[in-house]
Amino acid sequence: MKMGWACLFLALPLCLSAFSTGTLAVTANFNENFEVSWAPTNVKFLGGESLQLVLDQSTGSGFASKESYLFGDIDMQIKLVPGDSAGTVTAYYLSSEGAKHDELDFEFLGNASGQPYVLQTNVFSAGVGGREQRITLWFDPTQDFHTYSVNWSAKRVVFLVDGVPIRVFSNNEAVGVPYLRQQAMRVYSSIWNGDSWATQGGLLKINWANAPFVATYRNFGAANACRASTPAAASACVRAAASNHISGTGGAAPSFDRNKLQWVKKNFMVYDYCTDSARYRSAPAECTREL
Ligand SMILES: *[C@@H]1O[C@H](CO)[C@@H](O)[C@H](O)[C@H]1NC(C)=O
Ligand SMILES: *[C@@H]1O[C@H](CO)[C@@H](O)[C@H](O)[C@H]1NC(C)=O
Repeated sequence: MKMGWACLFLALPLCLSAFSTGTLAVTANFNENFEVSWAPTNVKFLGGESLQLVLDQSTGSGFASKESYLFGDIDMQIKLVPGDSAGTVTAYYLSSEGAKHDELDFEFLGNASGQPYVLQTNVFSAGVGGREQRITLWFDPTQDFHTYSVNWSAKRVVFLVDGVPIRVFSNNEAVGVPYLRQQAMRVYSSIWNGDSWATQGGLLKINWANAPFVATYRNFGAANACRASTPAAASACVRAAASNHISGTGGAAPSFDRNKLQWVKKNFMVYDYCTDSARYRSAPAECTREL
């Protein structure tokens, strides 16, 4: 299981290559802010404002934002693969590039029909990850669109599901934990075969008889975030954050409902790296200072 987690994002960037959307009839909204980044044959644009990422035996697929961002509030609405989704992984994440990259992940781990999806989140700072947390959800994520968000400021990252905080990663540079505040990140989404590790620790494999596996997306509006695609723009975002002048959460530490976060942890958390003593003999520094 650990091995699977470690391999995950080493392999994925290899899949993502630049692609021009060319002749496809896509919504203006998508084209304005995003581009197909992997396997255009498996990206289906629906009329209106939504699209589908398809996984079949030939390939998964993915898209990425055109801009990169440094702080702000970023969200996406997703309806996950219905029915037997065992072995599939639908990922929605922010990432910078390079060996010391920063990354914030939502990974939806499919399951057999009627069995619960698991939402795994992870945080990489300065190239170091290994901070997986897993929750089940309080609704069936395959029935409707739900909103998955990251509110990212210089002080704190809050992960939210339909506005409910599910995870907080605070700036703990004071105790030597690198924080995500210098590298601009793009927004990505993809669907792929994770059946070596994703479902019941890799026991349940993808049943290709049920392919294609389809996740549906909508809401491709510009993120309420600081655009940082050039070094000068990124510096401006850092300065703006320091003086709290970014739209959305921006520089201030986003406040969040601690009671709701506790409710999620108490009722839905199924794994937390902070309490995995077989993996980390003493809990990583940020764990005892999470809020
Ligand atoms: C799938 O369902 C099983 C049985 O309910 C559960 O133990 C597991 O956590 C679920 N999710 C994944 C990703 O394996
Ligand atoms: C996250 O950002 C959204 C959009 O700006 C805002 O409405 C919400 O209150 C923020 N949530 C938190 C926990 O800061």
